[in-house]
Amino acid sequence: MSENALTSCRAFVFDAYGTLFDVGSAVDRFKETIGDEADRLSSIWRQKQLEYTWLRSLMGDFTDFWNVTGDALDYAMAATGKKDPALRAKLMETYLSLDTFPEVVETLKTLKSQGHRLAILSNGAKHMLISAAKASGILSLFDQIICVDDIKTYKPHPDVYQLAVDQLELTPAEISFQSSNGWDIAGAGHFGFRTAWINRTQQPTERLSHSADVVLKGLDELLPLVAQPEKT
Ligand code: LAC
Repeated sequence: MSENALTSCRAFVFDAYGTLFDVGSAVDRFKETIGDEADRLSSIWRQKQLEYTWLRSLMGDFTDFWNVTGDALDYAMAATGKKDPALRAKLMETYLSLDTFPEVVETLKTLKSQGHRLAILSNGAKHMLISAAKASGILSLFDQIICVDDIKTYKPHPDVYQLAVDQLELTPAEISFQSSNGWDIAGAGHFGFRTAWINRTQQPTERLSHSADVVLKGLDELLPLVAQPEKT
């Protein structure tokens, strides 16, 4: 393993939605029912979910990620002409047991077996994160599940990243933060974390003030970059 930006990191902290969990898998499970508008519904749902977190943070009008996700789904269903309360209920239920991306479980198990500290840092409400992590069999791999419920603001506000510093009792530079969301990487880098952007779909780099320390095509590409922690 060659020296790199992540070498001195003492914990690996992961964004949840889009990084560990495939948010598109909710609509994918009901593609037959939804029909041609499925991809558009999924895309509007995710974009509105994120927009509402940013807008509510700026307005100082917090509601938790479960409510934000439901509001964003209502917008997306209206935008695609879907008036089906049963479908809405099934889509929301599915958000509690989203698929993980293919490489996620094995990569986390490998990092854990090597003795690394692992955490989730997410906008997700605690019950959402615990449910999804339990459903995908990864809950026991994490030392901490860190969410924004208590501070009532969303990423990329610095107070969110500060939660990981406080709960892990590490400096920002000792934390390697993994996210598929380029804007989240910019926020985490601006705060002082080391950052690994999981750019699975070859998105352009965000024109924001911080770019990732490393850019990976999948979480598994982290493994060759990571030193084995000293046994204490
Ligand atoms: C999260 C969203 C931003 O998990 O993906 O925090």
